Amino acid sequence: MQPEEEKSFRRRQFIHTAAAAGVAAFAVPVVGRALAQAPAGSQIKVAVIGCGGRGTGAADQALKADPGVVIWVMADTFPDRIETAHAELKKRPNGDRVIVPPERRFTGFDAGAMACSTDVDVVILASAPYFRPMHLRSAVDAGKNIFCEKPMFTDAAGAKVVIQCIEDARAKKLQFMSGFCWRYSLPERETFMRIRGGDIGEVLAMHSDYLTNPLGINPRKPEWSDMEFQLRNWQHFVWLSGDIIVEQAIHSIDKINWAFGNEPPTRCTAMGSRGLRENIPERGDIYDNFAVVYEWPRNRRATLLCRQQPDCHNENLDTVIGSKGSAFINGWGPTHEIIGEHPWSYPPDGPNPNMYQTEHDEFYKAIRGGKRIDDGNFVVNTCRMALMGRMSAYTGQAVTWDQVVNSLENLGPDKLDMRNAPQPIIRVPGQSKLI
Ligand SMILES: NC(=O)c1ccc[n+]([C@@H]2O[C@H](COP(=O)([O-])OP(=O)(O)OC[C@H]3O[C@@H](n4cnc5c(N)ncnc54)[C@H](O)[C@@H]3O)[C@@H](O)[C@H]2O)c1
Repeated sequence: MQPEEEKSFRRRQFIHTAAAAGVAAFAVPVVGRALAQAPAGSQIKVAVIGCGGRGTGAADQALKADPGVVIWVMADTFPDRIETAHAELKKRPNGDRVIVPPERRFTGFDAGAMACSTDVDVVILASAPYFRPMHLRSAVDAGKNIFCEKPMFTDAAGAKVVIQCIEDARAKKLQFMSGFCWRYSLPERETFMRIRGGDIGEVLAMHSDYLTNPLGINPRKPEWSDMEFQLRNWQHFVWLSGDIIVEQAIHSIDKINWAFGNEPPTRCTAMGSRGLRENIPERGDIYDNFAVVYEWPRNRRATLLCRQQPDCHNENLDTVIGSKGSAFINGWGPTHEIIGEHPWSYPPDGPNPNMYQTEHDEFYKAIRGGKRIDDGNFVVNTCRMALMGRMSAYTGQAVTWDQVVNSLENLGPDKLDMRNAPQPIIRVPGQSKLI
């Protein structure tokens, strides 16, 4: 933002705050006051770390959620991503509250840490998932309130860091909201509240589908190093994304975890392959389908199908079978219903606001009101369940919860540098080893 623009923003903040208070006032930054009530009209400075589609979307939702929000810092490995996101946000109705001069734009691998070292109150963590544990560490150490996209980690090494960060965020009373957006969708919330409240009795089984198209690729440019090539196609490399089960179908796994009350499964058996991935480098080393069976004591089961293949049937459905009824949830459609002893359905004209906006509305309301949000209560089990399914499919072995918890898997390179990238590894069931 140009100095004139910034001045004009400050002027508007002043007028807004003064009008609200009825006295002369000025915009007060909320720096370092994680949970203290932020006076209405005070600024809440936000850093966006990972300025792609989701980072831009979350920034926009943050701006809509609270009139005091200013996008203050932007960080991405690549400057062009910041430029694009910044230009996009400036065009939108709240663009005057996007105030990111060049000195508050950070690039490279330490961009996230640099962003956390500024005076922002909130960080939006929306980079490629592999980096989330590092960004979370920097954010918690710096005492920031955190909106953390899913997945929180892609391997066991990342899990260890995230578990400690969640504990430290609790000790520091920092907000920790996850990007498990279905937890903020009103029809899903009401359905799962009824499931957990006993309306279908004990949850005995569940089936979830997450069937969709392949994600796009960025064709290689001659000037890109191997690392830049992989980063710009991060969704397709296991070390960066965790594979489709960890990066995308984890939404369905989170619903399974939700229905089973955050009780970890004891074991899982999975299969998968990359049947229709074109043999081109941009398609990296991820699979394009997984089928997983999770098991709990007393023969309770959940099954998951996920697929990213073109020109196939797509679906996002969940069926939960209980001892007294069952629930049916159509994530991309209108149906949320329960049959059995306590029949119910979500009214077709019931409130159904954009769940991504609801997340941010609740996040900033919590910051203003001094109430703490702690999604750390469930995210670790959800992410570990996703890792468990992947480990089983890659190795062809049944995998226990203890094996996931004690896994030593560490997918990233020993040292991050902008030239060299890890070699893609196509995992072969029956041959790839459990780590
Ligand atoms: N909750 C949801 O429904 C939802 C939807 C889409 C994406 N996501 C999640 O959001 C995250 C981002 O996804 P996206 O679709 O925006 O991808 P994207 O590729 O559009 O954006 C990711 C950005 O992060 C940047 N980046 C990569 N490594 C980085 C690092 N070390 N430091 C800073 N920036 C880095 C990339 O350059 C890119 O600009 C992923 O974890 C994804 O799973 C969640």
